[in-house]
Amino acid sequence: MAPIGTGPEHDRLDFYRKDMAQLSQRGRLRSLSPRAGVDFSSNDYIGLAASDRLKDAIRAALDDGVAVGAAGSRLLRGHTEWQADFEFEAARFFGAEAALGFGGGYMANFALLATLPQREDLLLMDELSHASTHEGARAGRASVQRFRHGDVAHAEDVITNWRRAGNTGAVWIAVESLYSMDGDVAPLRELAALADRHGFLIVDEAHATGVFGPDGRGLTHHLEGRENVLTLHTLGKALGGSGALICGAKCLLDFMVNRSRPFIFATAPSPLMAVAGRAALQILRDEPWRRDLLQDHIACFNDEMARRLPRIQTSGSQIVPLIVGPDAETMALAAQIQARGFDVRGIRPPTVPEGSARLRISLNLNVTRQDIRRLTDTLEELWPDL
Ligand SMILES: Cc1ncc(COP(=O)(O)O)c(C=O)c1O
Repeated sequence: MAPIGTGPEHDRLDFYRKDMAQLSQRGRLRSLSPRAGVDFSSNDYIGLAASDRLKDAIRAALDDGVAVGAAGSRLLRGHTEWQADFEFEAARFFGAEAALGFGGGYMANFALLATLPQREDLLLMDELSHASTHEGARAGRASVQRFRHGDVAHAEDVITNWRRAGNTGAVWIAVESLYSMDGDVAPLRELAALADRHGFLIVDEAHATGVFGPDGRGLTHHLEGRENVLTLHTLGKALGGSGALICGAKCLLDFMVNRSRPFIFATAPSPLMAVAGRAALQILRDEPWRRDLLQDHIACFNDEMARRLPRIQTSGSQIVPLIVGPDAETMALAAQIQARGFDVRGIRPPTVPEGSARLRISLNLNVTRQDIRRLTDTLEELWPDL
């Protein structure tokens, strides 16, 4: 007899079809759409992904016999000299004692939060932290609490209450330096001071690496070298490749090498990405004009918006959330803008909080000032009177 639920009369895909039908009814169905239009949506902030220098670095590496794949996990044959060189170089660049590479930022965050905080600890996360940190927290052992976005006083209140309950473990505060969907910046100095009193600070620099700080070292450059600060730098955004690095005290990274299952039981990143990452760090040093031009783009967008749509708030960074509110209006507006030739995406819950669906404008070097003016023209024309 067939096990329950697997007989020929049973539609094993039923649950999934129904779930998607429900999503569709609620206007929340996602689908993959090809690239089209002027790039106002990628995270290729300083235009490295298709840059000649990265391509040349990869070409030269291939000519030198570097393999495409790592062919094993890091603790076995996958630990290549290119990855080791890159990590050594990256640790120097980011002012850290050590650096450890991962296949992507999601995996790095997940691994970090699932591994380092211990059972008696508190993991305290900004409520707008990336999904990967929430999933890592769920997989880990520590108690998890959230604090209101960017609100250090609230973070401190949560810690005080947790201590009052008799807890003596370490507190791990996890934030992003530049928030991926809001484009605003965490109060890092205050958070570091709080971490000095209670434990550790983990800063996800995904959207700030390569864009902010001296040489593009990120917004944590003034916290470099502290034993209680860990930073995460993704390679798939401004650095133009893919993968991620965790930078921090060697002892903590050695612990990850020994205890972190997503690190231990995964194929090591491609050596070609290590080559690309190294080349990207060199470009950050050699080509400050990229960051300067991006700042010009940000200023240009803000000026144009202030003139055309003064009631709409922008941000001070290359990530500009234009909040529309309702999902349906947001997606309809995005579709209209796309039809004019711009790649602008609508972002809905659950990626962002309910009622705050938005257009996420990404300013980057794949667009010109003229493109920015044309986009703001279009926004002025199409922006709904809500
Ligand atoms: C803040 C933040 N952290 C981590 C990640 C994940 O990085 P990756 O795309 O390299 O997996 C993202 C990606 O969108 C992100 O926005």
